[in-house]
Amino acid sequence: MDPFSFKTFLLFVCLIGCGSAQDILPEGPVDAVLSRDIVLTTLLTKPDYTAIFWSFNDGIEVTNVATMSAAGLKLKPAYEGRVTLNATNGFLTLKSLTSKDSGEYTINILFNDGNTRTAEIELRVLKPVSGVIIKSNMPEAVEHNSTVILTCSAQGSFLNFIWTNGSTLIVADGKRLTVKDEEMTSTLTIAGVLRSDLIGPIFCTAANNLEKEKSPAFNLTVHYGPDNVIISPASTPQFIRAGSNFSLACSALSSPPATFSWFQNQKAMEVLGPVLSLGAIEKLGSVTKVEDFTCRAQNAKTLRNVPSPAVSFAVMDAISGTKITGPTVTLIAGNSTANLSCQAMAGTVKTTTWLKDGKPLSTSSHLVFAANMRSVIINPLQKGDRGQYTCQLSNPVNTDQASFKMEVNFGPETAMVEGKEAVEVNEPITLTCSAESYPTANFTWKFNGTVTDVKTDKYIIMEAKYKNTGTYTCEAHNTVTGKTATGSHKLSVKEEGALDEGLSDGAIAGIIIAVLVALAAAIGLIIYCRQKVPVESPY
Ligand SMILES: *[C@@H]1O[C@H](CO)[C@@H](O)[C@H](O)[C@H]1NC(C)=O
Ligand SMILES: *[C@@H]1O[C@H](CO)[C@@H](O)[C@H](O)[C@H]1NC(C)=O
Ligand SMILES: *[C@@H]1O[C@H](CO)[C@@H](O)[C@H](O)[C@H]1NC(C)=O
Ligand SMILES: *[C@@H]1O[C@H](CO)[C@@H](O)[C@H](O)[C@H]1NC(C)=O
Ligand SMILES: *[C@@H]1O[C@H](CO)[C@@H](O)[C@H](O)[C@H]1NC(C)=O
Ligand SMILES: *[C@@H]1O[C@H](CO)[C@@H](O)[C@H](O)[C@H]1NC(C)=O
Ligand SMILES: *[C@@H]1O[C@H](CO)[C@@H](O)[C@H](O)[C@H]1NC(C)=O
Repeated sequence: MDPFSFKTFLLFVCLIGCGSAQDILPEGPVDAVLSRDIVLTTLLTKPDYTAIFWSFNDGIEVTNVATMSAAGLKLKPAYEGRVTLNATNGFLTLKSLTSKDSGEYTINILFNDGNTRTAEIELRVLKPVSGVIIKSNMPEAVEHNSTVILTCSAQGSFLNFIWTNGSTLIVADGKRLTVKDEEMTSTLTIAGVLRSDLIGPIFCTAANNLEKEKSPAFNLTVHYGPDNVIISPASTPQFIRAGSNFSLACSALSSPPATFSWFQNQKAMEVLGPVLSLGAIEKLGSVTKVEDFTCRAQNAKTLRNVPSPAVSFAVMDAISGTKITGPTVTLIAGNSTANLSCQAMAGTVKTTTWLKDGKPLSTSSHLVFAANMRSVIINPLQKGDRGQYTCQLSNPVNTDQASFKMEVNFGPETAMVEGKEAVEVNEPITLTCSAESYPTANFTWKFNGTVTDVKTDKYIIMEAKYKNTGTYTCEAHNTVTGKTATGSHKLSVKEEGALDEGLSDGAIAGIIIAVLVALAAAIGLIIYCRQKVPVESPY
């Protein structure tokens, strides 16, 4: 064959062979890791060949690497000891790969039947993935304000990057979150960063077809707040008891924790910290009218200063030392006057209520209250005015009370003697004297006008004698009012049996009824018997 026709033949082979070149080599490229080994396989099993050539094109020049023929394996000296070629299947093994081994490898096979086949495959020697690390454009961020740019860098070839928050893939939305990949870096940009964006921890994974490596966990503090600035309690009674254990506490969601300052009616108070105690308020002056209290939360990093809603109240002194002043002299019904007045040692009194024996006390013909209710005049005192008087002083923060026991001396107006008017001789008899009086009256008894030595309300005779007949007079005397009342009673002592009443009216009536019933029965029986006697008919 002349050279021209040989070239034509080769071209012809290539035209068919190139189209089906991958009959003898797999699809490329083949990736291999630097300094490791790689076997460039063929799809041939046991080809019947004269020679196999492997050549290498690094893009600049073509080098013959290895030739397998009847003469055995021939290697280019540079590949000695580093390359083998399997005589059975044509596999080319390259050991201790260097980056210079990247390029096009071509296999040429000259078959025994004179055919030639050729094919190519690309080998990429990849640098191992290493040094994956995330860096931030700022050491700490401010929520909403900061645009955080995280850069993940790595060494290695043909790198792909993915970002994860914990184990969740971070997906760029193209607006707030954008990701830009370059050969050795990936940039994650978070505009208007949120506190939740970076509490991950965040990881970046760099990978190529053969290897991957995850970065160390990355956290970036995102400062935020103060948010939700609130005072507790959020509302209070209108009046707070002076000196009581009361305080307001301010809180906020904030990173770093907020610092707090306090305002009274929009005016700054000399109080810092989250708690405003009533003691601190009182130290600055009394709060007699309802005033507004607010706190402000300040974040040193975000430079935000946020006020709380207001809480309003006034501070009022509790009422204490309540006392009733009343008459100290002896009081006599009908002739004394009482002035009860109620006063407190401390506190502002808003309402005054009077009770007598636990029930509300009301105005009457002889009882009037002072206009301010703080005293009550009873004139003249009556016996019904005796009792326990209570005055209750109240304001919005407490009620204090005091009591006064008023004794009203009275009576006796009358004295009454009770007992039988007649008694049989030798029977006992008791006469009782009663007289309404306070204090209790002293009693003396007179018989037929002569003073006896009985000094109790009862005059007791164990066995009545005829000489006990006569008039008994009881004298009741109240030593305080000086009043005396008398009552009389006549007693007669009769002979034995004189007071027997015989059959009672009831018994007499019973006897009469029984007699009448028996009589009626007898008459009835007689009439009945007579009817039974046969009477001869006149016909
Ligand atoms: C060459 O390949 C054949 C078939 O795959 C295998 O049996 C043989 O051991 C290989 N030879 C060497 C030297 O690796
Ligand atoms: C990152 O923050 C999370 C949650 O606050 C925490 O559990 C983790 O330990 C932090 N990791 C690092 C590396 O700071
Ligand atoms: C004040 O009240 C708080 C909470 O109610 C309590 O913990 C504290 O012991 C009280 N202090 C005094 C002095 O009573
Ligand atoms: C954040 O932005 C707000 C409004 O734009 C601004 O008032 C504030 O000062 C900013 N904070 C910081 C720390 O720059
Ligand atoms: C009332 O009191 C006055 C003065 O204490 C006295 O003079 C008068 O006798 C008294 N009257 C009666 C009814 O007790
Ligand atoms: C009753 O007593 C109070 C207190 O002592 C006094 O202020 C008031 O004037 C008195 N009222 C009368 C009517 O005397
Ligand atoms: C007492 O008076 C009555 C009548 O007034 C008289 O019948 C009686 O005998 C008198 N008794 C004595 C012990 O004087």
